[in-house]
Amino acid sequence: MTVYNLGSINIDHVYRVPHLPAPGETLSALAYTQGLGGKGANQSVAAARAGARTVHIGAIGPNSDWVRDAMRGYGVDLAGVSLLEEPTGHAIINVDPGAENAIVIYPGANRAVTPAMVEAALAEAGPVDTLLIQNETSAQAEAAAAARARGLRVVYSAAPFDIDAVKAALPHASLLVMNEIEADQTRAALGALPPLDCLITRGAKGAEWISARAEPLFMTAFRVTPVDTTGAGDTFIGTLAAGLDLGLDRAAAMRLAMAAAAIQVTRAGAAQAIPDRAEVDTFLRAQG
Ligand code: RIB
Repeated sequence: MTVYNLGSINIDHVYRVPHLPAPGETLSALAYTQGLGGKGANQSVAAARAGARTVHIGAIGPNSDWVRDAMRGYGVDLAGVSLLEEPTGHAIINVDPGAENAIVIYPGANRAVTPAMVEAALAEAGPVDTLLIQNETSAQAEAAAAARARGLRVVYSAAPFDIDAVKAALPHASLLVMNEIEADQTRAALGALPPLDCLITRGAKGAEWISARAEPLFMTAFRVTPVDTTGAGDTFIGTLAAGLDLGLDRAAAMRLAMAAAAIQVTRAGAAQAIPDRAEVDTFLRAQG
């Protein structure tokens, strides 16, 4: 059982700002930090920290040794990560005092991943494994098709939302994970939610799993005081994928994922804020 994750790897430049900048406004940041991010890398870190064997598929550019060291340090296998000439992707992230953010990404090497790189990384994958994809790389539709042909569960996090990318990957997905805004965008573009399992995350309210094969499952979020919500959705999805890959049922996997995300938002940063399984289990025991 392995979680393969075709995903972005970014260097996050994080600015704490008094408020999110308005058009034309110049703002002085209150603080600046740099850390590991990217929806893909965050999800891989979450899956690995939750206890799943996790193989990341992606690309980085030159002078990014610390990025690789950080991912390895969190337990992610980088067998599927290529070193390319394009620069490593990065993100400019503004975070306001209410823990909300606004993000601009520069994709760089993330968009230079080829279907051949993905095929090579999936060479030993089979029906007991899971593929995670998002919309911050190239080749995700080809990856989803290749994974389904091999019998893998394909978990698709449709973020950042792009209807063409969604239409291309959707036929090969087993579970589509969206936030409320992405779900509305999907409904508007397709007329309805697509006929596969859909998991809609609703931030501090919780999450809902809708399935044609089972009753809808709604779970309320744990109450915490957030300091930074960057990467919370990624923590939820990576942990959920790990839980399913490790054999948990959907309710248990959702509860684990909800707890990991609740802890993650209480700390600053993306990947660096993701808790390990022991911390999540302790948190859940304290909830009773
Ligand atoms: O979801 C949060 C992530 O989005 C950040 O880490 C940033 O890199 C962007 O990819």
